[in-house]
Amino acid sequence: MFSVLKRLLFMMPPERAHDLALGSMDGLARFGGRWFLPSPVEDERRMMGLRFRNAVGLSAGLDKNGDHVRGLAAMGFGFVELGTVTPVGQPGNPAPRLFRLPAHEALINRLGFNNQGVDHLCEAVKAARRHVDIPIGINIGKNRNTPLEHAADDYRHCLRAVHAIADYVVVNLSSPNTPGLRSLQAGRELTGLVQRLQHEQTVLEAKTGHRVPLVVKIAPDLTDDDLRGLVDALLECGIDGITATNTTIDHSQVAGSRHADETGGLSGAPLRARATEVVRQIRHQAGPDLPVIAVGGIMSPTDAVEKMQAGADLVQLYTGLIYRGPRLVRESAAEIRDLCPATRDLS
Ligand SMILES: Cc1cc2nc3c(=O)[nH]c(=O)nc-3n(C[C@H](O)[C@H](O)[C@H](O)COP(=O)(O)O)c2cc1C
Repeated sequence: MFSVLKRLLFMMPPERAHDLALGSMDGLARFGGRWFLPSPVEDERRMMGLRFRNAVGLSAGLDKNGDHVRGLAAMGFGFVELGTVTPVGQPGNPAPRLFRLPAHEALINRLGFNNQGVDHLCEAVKAARRHVDIPIGINIGKNRNTPLEHAADDYRHCLRAVHAIADYVVVNLSSPNTPGLRSLQAGRELTGLVQRLQHEQTVLEAKTGHRVPLVVKIAPDLTDDDLRGLVDALLECGIDGITATNTTIDHSQVAGSRHADETGGLSGAPLRARATEVVRQIRHQAGPDLPVIAVGGIMSPTDAVEKMQAGADLVQLYTGLIYRGPRLVRESAAEIRDLCPATRDLS
């Protein structure tokens, strides 16, 4: 069934196909998901004070506005991450800005945080909460027009706005499509930003009695030294978790293919090995107690298990869903349940 649907969807421009597929999932979830969709894999994982239904989550970027939470939850995800959302809605980069590389089971995107702004997302999540009881992470970023030296203001604005509706918040410092963003992953820019957000986290907790964990999402394109420095700095700050990784700007693995030279972040199968290596290095350096969410190139249940064996506590996927369909979610969750039992409670 998915292979027929995929053939039809792949005949359309990628963004139209995404919208149509998500819209259909929403419809199915609303009007009969209970009868047509298999039940989700139950394999509870505890981390950051939260209970995840299973270890497989949706990665950021597919539902930037929180409009499809119900349909996504019906696919069997253990948790979903929405965004990246910015303080003010923005159109993103001009189209075309999303490219398929089917021979490599990969995508290149330079969407540039197209989203309707944080207030829209908050309303959408509030409405979805009535139907969905899995953890919802909100991935936050800065508006393109905000100068880098004021980036912290944008992140703080988003953190305040989503605090009441987010189970965890991801500080996205690793999109390659917002100029200069990745420079926030090092030095005083990094620690200054993270400490300011942690201060805000504490203030909000004191006000509401509700603690929302902060996770930083990092790029796969750091040198070993830079990665070590970044992880050290995050550990020193006492960060609640790390997500590794975002898309890569290294297109060497797809060189020669149609679209390989398009500017943007590469995701899917060619990213798998590097993302796993980054997770392995983080776990090696951080020891057993830091929550790590692994993402990048999970195209099969075996790939999901590889990430867990490299030291991840949870995994996420995006491009695999486009190429392999919703089965990948349940099959990966089941394989992790069977081969990587939850031995640790990081709550
Ligand atoms: C079209 C597209 C849009 C994305 N948008 C975001 C985003 O807004 N924020 C973010 O943190 N990551 C974003 N990502 C990165 C994914 O969340 C993920 O980290 C990356 O694609 C690697 O996982 P995958 O190989 O399973 O796709 C995007 C990826 C794709 C393909």
